[in-house]
Amino acid sequence: MTQNPPHPSRPTATPLRVVAVSGTLSTPSKTDALVEAILDELALVLPIERHVIRVSELGPLFAGALTRDELDERVERELRAIEGADLLIAASPVYRASFTGLFKHLFDFVEQYALVDVPVMLAATGGSERHALILEHSLRPLFGFFQALTLPLGVYAHASDFTDRRVTAPLLQERIRAAIARGLPLIRSSIAEKERIERAVAGDDGARPDLRAAELDLTTPTRLFS
Ligand SMILES: Cc1cc2nc3c(=O)[nH]c(=O)nc-3n(C[C@H](O)[C@H](O)[C@H](O)COP(=O)(O)O)c2cc1C
Repeated sequence: MTQNPPHPSRPTATPLRVVAVSGTLSTPSKTDALVEAILDELALVLPIERHVIRVSELGPLFAGALTRDELDERVERELRAIEGADLLIAASPVYRASFTGLFKHLFDFVEQYALVDVPVMLAATGGSERHALILEHSLRPLFGFFQALTLPLGVYAHASDFTDRRVTAPLLQERIRAAIARGLPLIRSSIAEKERIERAVAGDDGARPDLRAAELDLTTPTRLFS
C-alpha cells in the first residue's frame, strides 16, 4: 500500500498545540499541578507544544471587563491561543460545586464557534472526593455548548492525591494515562480531519471541486444563536 507524503503545512513531526487553562485563583495550586502532570504524560505519547494559561495570573486583567473589545492585549493573545488550540485541557478547582467564576468568565469571551470539533480534556480538583461529577455536570455541558469534542474520560483529583503540590497518587497517575489513552484516537482523528480540510481549502487534495465544496459544508457548525 502506498502512503501519502506528509502535507507541508503540518509535517508528521509538527507538535500539537496543546493549550491548558487552569481556573484556579491560588498560587501554588493543585489544579496547576494536575495540568502539569497531564501535560507531562501527554508529552510521552505525542509531540506537543504546551501553553498554560493560569487564571490566577490573568484574572486581574479581565475580571472587570464586560466585552472582548475592552480586554488587555495579553488577554486577547491568550484568547487567540485558546481558539487556535489543537487540543485544549480545561481544568478548574471546584468552587461551590462548579468551576470558578473567573474560569467561566474567561470562556465567555471565547468566540462561540472557535472550539467546534476541538478535542478537550476535562480536569478538576476538589477538597472532597464527592465532587468528581463536576466533570460531567459543569465542565462537559460548557464544552458541549461550544460543540467541542470532549474526550470520554476526564480527570478528577482531590487533596490526598498530592504531596507538596505534585501528583503522587498512583491511582490518579493511572487515571491520567487512561484518560489520554482513551482520548488518543479522537485527538488523532481530529488532527487528520483538520489536515484534510486544510488540504481541501488549499485545493491540493485531489478531490473533485464539487465534492470538496459539499464536504467543506459539513464543517460549518450548527449556528444556534446567530
Ligand atoms: C471558595 C471555595 C469554594 C470551594 N468549594 C468546594 C466545593 O464545593 N467542593 C469541593 O470539593 N471543594 C471545594 N473547594 C476546595 C477546592 O476545590 C480545592 O481545595 C481545590 O483543590 C483547590 O485547588 P487549587 O489548589 O488549584 O486552588 C473550595 C475552595 C474554595 C476556596
